[in-house]
Amino acid sequence: MNTLILSSQDIHIASTLLQQGELVGIPTETVYGLGANALNPDAVAKIFTAKGRPQDNPLILHIADPSWLTRYCEEIPPTAWQLAEAFWPGPLTMILPSKAIVPDIVRSGLDTVGVRCPNHPLALELIRSCDFPIAAPSGNVSGKPSPTSVSAMAEDMDTKISAILDGGDSLVGVESTIVSVGDNVVLLRSGGIGVEEIQDILHKTVEIPSSHQSQKPVAPGMKYHHYAPQAPVTVVRGQNAPQWIAKEITQEDGVICFEEYASLFTFSYVKIIGKESDFQEQAQQVFQALRYFDSTPVKRIFAQCPMEEGLGRAVANRLQKAAGFRIVDIEE
Ligand code: TXA
Ligand code: MG
Repeated sequence: MNTLILSSQDIHIASTLLQQGELVGIPTETVYGLGANALNPDAVAKIFTAKGRPQDNPLILHIADPSWLTRYCEEIPPTAWQLAEAFWPGPLTMILPSKAIVPDIVRSGLDTVGVRCPNHPLALELIRSCDFPIAAPSGNVSGKPSPTSVSAMAEDMDTKISAILDGGDSLVGVESTIVSVGDNVVLLRSGGIGVEEIQDILHKTVEIPSSHQSQKPVAPGMKYHHYAPQAPVTVVRGQNAPQWIAKEITQEDGVICFEEYASLFTFSYVKIIGKESDFQEQAQQVFQALRYFDSTPVKRIFAQCPMEEGLGRAVANRLQKAAGFRIVDIEE
């Protein structure tokens, strides 16, 4: 199958393909998604095949408007409406009790479903024109870094899906923050919205399970090998991390670093992901950086890691997952 690259003028083609049960790559502000009609189990099944995704890893429903929540979820607590009002459209996914209308295959048989209203004009127009929710995981082959551009999505999905809707580069660059919303709000995946921002809105602490610092999964999808380039990644933390990396590497290695330290690594393959304090830039760059090394012959990749606060928490999490939690802490 030839994968069509569609522009914004061709949105009706994307819409028709989705209605026919085909897969379409959709742009969102976080990362590109691999979309299907969420209410059509056969269409959703194709997502798992195209991605090579285990069936026990549920998908997120993308809706066009917060009011759609009541179509697919029940027992929606006031907290969920508060979060929707504050952050939608935007990079927040809420896990809520599901209505029976959401097919089992979307939620892997769980009685909850993840829902988000993406902040991208083309995605919203597309979902609205379909008038059904779009189920979409990130548009990468399972295990690879998520795509933040149409070309990255095509790299993984060319010939496997009907079309990709080109909406430009993803502005946020890391996936949505996932919280389960009940009596407590629990962080399941750090992402485009900082925990601190959520707490500011709710005047309430967001629970961060201690397993966030380890391999133990919180969301089902967090247990799999993730975001990994071909060469093994090591995350190096601590004030002297750049100097340690500079001593360790050879010409055959790659480095992911902050702008301030790039001059230490002139002999290796280097990807700068922004200034040390610029989490927003780092989030935009991190997946492109991880993908870049697959086009080089590097044998190992060493990465600096941002502070784990605000958006930095999500960037640090993606790097640590790419490293399979191979982390070197440099003593001061
Ligand atoms: O920003 C994003 O969230 C992107 C864009 C395309 O919207 N999507 C995305 O989807 O990252 P995916 O499938 O790559 O990650 C969704 C995560 C998985 O870890 C999955 O296990 C978790 O959400 N998840 C989905 N439904 C869930 C549920 N009912 N309970 C717990 N976790 C759930
Ligand atoms: Mg993903």
